[in-house]
Amino acid sequence: MHQLKNLEEVNPDLTPEVMSQVDEIIEQSRGKPGCLIPVLEECQRVVGYLPLELQEYIGEGLNIPGSTIFGVVTFYSFFSMVPKGRHLIKVCLGTACYVRGSKNILKRLTDDFDLAPGQTTPDRRFSLETVRCLGACGLAPAVVVDADTHGGVRPNKLGDILAKYE
Ligand code: FES
Repeated sequence: MHQLKNLEEVNPDLTPEVMSQVDEIIEQSRGKPGCLIPVLEECQRVVGYLPLELQEYIGEGLNIPGSTIFGVVTFYSFFSMVPKGRHLIKVCLGTACYVRGSKNILKRLTDDFDLAPGQTTPDRRFSLETVRCLGACGLAPAVVVDADTHGGVRPNKLGDILAKYE
Protein backbone atom coordinates (compact mmCIF):
# COMPACT_ATOMS: atom_id res chain seq x y z
CA MET A 1 0.00 0.00 0.00
CA HIS A 2 1.18 3.57 -0.70
CA GLN A 3 2.73 5.54 2.10
CA LEU A 4 0.52 8.58 2.79
CA LYS A 5 3.51 10.89 2.48
CA ASN A 6 4.29 9.53 -0.97
CA LEU A 7 0.73 10.00 -2.09
CA GLU A 8 0.88 13.68 -1.21
CA GLU A 9 4.11 13.95 -3.23
CA VAL A 10 2.37 12.37 -6.21
CA ASN A 11 -0.79 14.45 -5.78
CA PRO A 12 -0.84 17.47 -3.41
CA ASP A 13 -4.62 17.06 -2.98
CA LEU A 14 -4.06 13.77 -1.18
CA THR A 15 -2.87 15.23 2.11
CA PRO A 16 -2.52 13.02 5.22
CA GLU A 17 -5.67 14.70 6.64
CA VAL A 18 -7.70 13.88 3.54
CA MET A 19 -6.30 10.36 3.40
CA SER A 20 -7.17 9.64 7.00
CA GLN A 21 -10.80 10.36 6.09
CA VAL A 22 -10.44 8.07 3.08
CA ASP A 23 -9.04 5.36 5.37
CA GLU A 24 -12.07 5.69 7.65
CA ILE A 25 -14.45 5.34 4.70
CA ILE A 26 -12.60 2.24 3.47
CA GLU A 27 -12.45 0.78 6.96
CA GLN A 28 -16.20 1.10 7.49
CA SER A 29 -17.03 -0.59 4.20
CA ARG A 30 -14.38 -3.27 3.84
CA GLY A 31 -15.92 -6.65 3.10
CA LYS A 32 -19.44 -5.32 2.63
CA PRO A 33 -20.97 -6.47 -0.65
CA GLY A 34 -21.87 -3.68 -3.05
CA CYS A 35 -19.77 -1.15 -1.14
CA LEU A 36 -17.69 0.09 -4.06
CA ILE A 37 -19.98 2.80 -5.43
CA PRO A 38 -20.86 4.26 -2.00
CA VAL A 39 -17.15 4.28 -1.09
CA LEU A 40 -16.26 6.05 -4.32
CA GLU A 41 -19.04 8.59 -3.76
CA GLU A 42 -17.85 9.30 -0.22
CA CYS A 43 -14.22 9.57 -1.29
CA GLN A 44 -15.16 11.94 -4.11
CA ARG A 45 -17.07 14.07 -1.59
CA VAL A 46 -13.95 14.26 0.59
CA VAL A 47 -11.30 14.74 -2.11
CA GLY A 48 -13.45 16.47 -4.76
CA TYR A 49 -12.58 13.96 -7.49
CA LEU A 50 -11.13 10.49 -7.98
CA PRO A 51 -7.60 10.65 -9.40
CA LEU A 52 -5.97 7.39 -10.52
CA GLU A 53 -3.65 7.16 -7.53
CA LEU A 54 -6.65 7.44 -5.19
CA GLN A 55 -8.51 4.76 -7.16
CA GLU A 56 -5.49 2.50 -6.75
CA TYR A 57 -5.39 3.20 -3.02
CA ILE A 58 -9.11 2.46 -2.63
CA GLY A 59 -8.65 -0.74 -4.66
CA GLU A 60 -5.88 -1.92 -2.36
CA GLY A 61 -7.98 -1.07 0.69
CA LEU A 62 -11.05 -2.93 -0.54
CA ASN A 63 -9.13 -5.69 -2.30
CA ILE A 64 -10.71 -4.82 -5.63
CA PRO A 65 -8.61 -4.62 -8.83
CA GLY A 66 -7.77 -1.08 -9.92
CA SER A 67 -9.10 -1.87 -13.39
CA THR A 68 -12.54 -2.63 -11.91
CA ILE A 69 -12.54 0.70 -10.06
CA PHE A 70 -11.41 2.56 -13.18
CA GLY A 71 -14.25 0.90 -15.12
CA VAL A 72 -16.83 2.06 -12.57
CA VAL A 73 -15.43 5.59 -12.32
CA THR A 74 -15.42 6.07 -16.07
CA PHE A 75 -18.86 4.46 -16.53
CA TYR A 76 -20.83 6.76 -14.22
CA SER A 77 -20.94 10.42 -15.19
CA PHE A 78 -21.24 11.57 -11.59
CA PHE A 79 -17.68 10.43 -10.96
CA SER A 80 -14.88 12.69 -12.06
CA MET A 81 -11.19 12.02 -12.47
CA VAL A 82 -10.33 15.70 -12.72
CA PRO A 83 -10.70 18.30 -9.97
CA LYS A 84 -13.65 20.66 -10.20
CA GLY A 85 -13.06 24.35 -10.82
CA ARG A 86 -14.50 27.10 -8.58
CA HIS A 87 -16.98 27.91 -11.36
CA LEU A 88 -18.80 25.53 -13.68
CA ILE A 89 -19.43 26.62 -17.27
CA LYS A 90 -22.09 24.72 -19.20
CA VAL A 91 -22.16 25.27 -22.95
CA CYS A 92 -25.33 24.10 -24.68
CA LEU A 93 -24.92 21.95 -27.77
CA GLY A 94 -28.66 21.41 -28.25
CA THR A 95 -30.04 22.05 -31.73
CA ALA A 96 -31.13 25.67 -31.20
CA CYS A 97 -27.79 26.63 -29.68
CA TYR A 98 -25.75 24.55 -32.10
CA VAL A 99 -27.21 26.22 -35.20
CA ARG A 100 -26.51 29.58 -33.62
CA GLY A 101 -22.85 28.84 -33.16
CA SER A 102 -22.22 27.17 -29.81
CA LYS A 103 -19.36 25.23 -31.42
CA ASN A 104 -17.55 28.56 -31.81
CA ILE A 105 -18.06 29.25 -28.11
CA LEU A 106 -16.40 25.94 -27.28
CA LYS A 107 -13.54 26.70 -29.65
CA ARG A 108 -12.98 30.09 -28.04
CA LEU A 109 -12.93 28.52 -24.59
CA THR A 110 -10.32 26.03 -25.75
CA ASP A 111 -8.19 28.64 -27.55
CA ASP A 112 -8.34 31.45 -24.97
CA PHE A 113 -8.89 29.63 -21.68
CA ASP A 114 -7.18 26.30 -22.32
CA LEU A 115 -10.44 24.62 -21.42
CA ALA A 116 -11.92 21.56 -23.11
CA PRO A 117 -15.20 19.80 -22.22
CA GLY A 118 -14.80 17.68 -19.10
CA GLN A 119 -11.67 19.59 -18.10
CA THR A 120 -10.67 22.16 -15.49
CA THR A 121 -8.28 25.07 -15.98
CA PRO A 122 -4.86 24.55 -14.33
CA ASP A 123 -5.67 27.34 -11.82
CA ARG A 124 -8.98 25.57 -11.01
CA ARG A 125 -10.96 28.66 -11.81
CA PHE A 126 -13.29 27.02 -14.33
CA SER A 127 -14.60 23.60 -15.27
CA LEU A 128 -16.39 23.06 -18.56
CA GLU A 129 -19.28 20.77 -19.44
CA THR A 130 -21.44 20.48 -22.52
CA VAL A 131 -25.17 19.85 -22.22
CA ARG A 132 -27.97 18.92 -24.62
CA CYS A 133 -30.40 21.69 -23.72
CA LEU A 134 -30.51 24.23 -20.92
CA GLY A 135 -34.21 24.89 -21.35
CA ALA A 136 -33.41 28.38 -22.58
CA CYS A 137 -33.61 27.80 -26.35
CA GLY A 138 -35.04 31.30 -26.92
CA LEU A 139 -31.72 32.65 -25.67
CA ALA A 140 -29.59 30.53 -28.01
CA PRO A 141 -26.70 30.24 -27.97
CA ALA A 142 -26.88 29.90 -24.21
CA VAL A 143 -24.15 29.41 -21.64
CA VAL A 144 -24.68 28.88 -17.93
CA VAL A 145 -21.99 29.85 -15.45
CA ASP A 146 -22.78 28.56 -11.97
CA ALA A 147 -26.43 29.65 -11.53
CA ASP A 148 -26.38 32.44 -14.16
CA THR A 149 -27.81 31.94 -17.64
CA HIS A 150 -26.20 34.04 -20.37
CA GLY A 151 -28.08 34.28 -23.66
CA GLY A 152 -27.08 35.30 -27.17
CA VAL A 153 -23.46 34.64 -26.27
CA ARG A 154 -20.90 35.72 -28.85
CA PRO A 155 -17.45 34.12 -28.62
CA ASN A 156 -15.78 37.53 -28.46
CA LYS A 157 -17.87 38.40 -25.38
CA LEU A 158 -16.77 35.37 -23.37
CA GLY A 159 -13.85 37.22 -21.81
CA ASP A 160 -16.20 39.91 -20.44
CA ILE A 161 -18.71 37.35 -19.19
CA LEU A 162 -16.12 35.21 -17.44
CA ALA A 163 -14.24 38.15 -15.92
CA LYS A 164 -16.93 38.34 -13.22
CA TYR A 165 -16.12 34.90 -11.93
CA GLU A 166 -12.94 34.75 -9.90
S1 FES B 1 -30.92 24.02 -27.25
FE1 FES B 1 -29.68 25.30 -26.05
S2 FES B 1 -31.00 25.92 -24.48
FE2 FES B 1 -32.20 24.56 -25.61
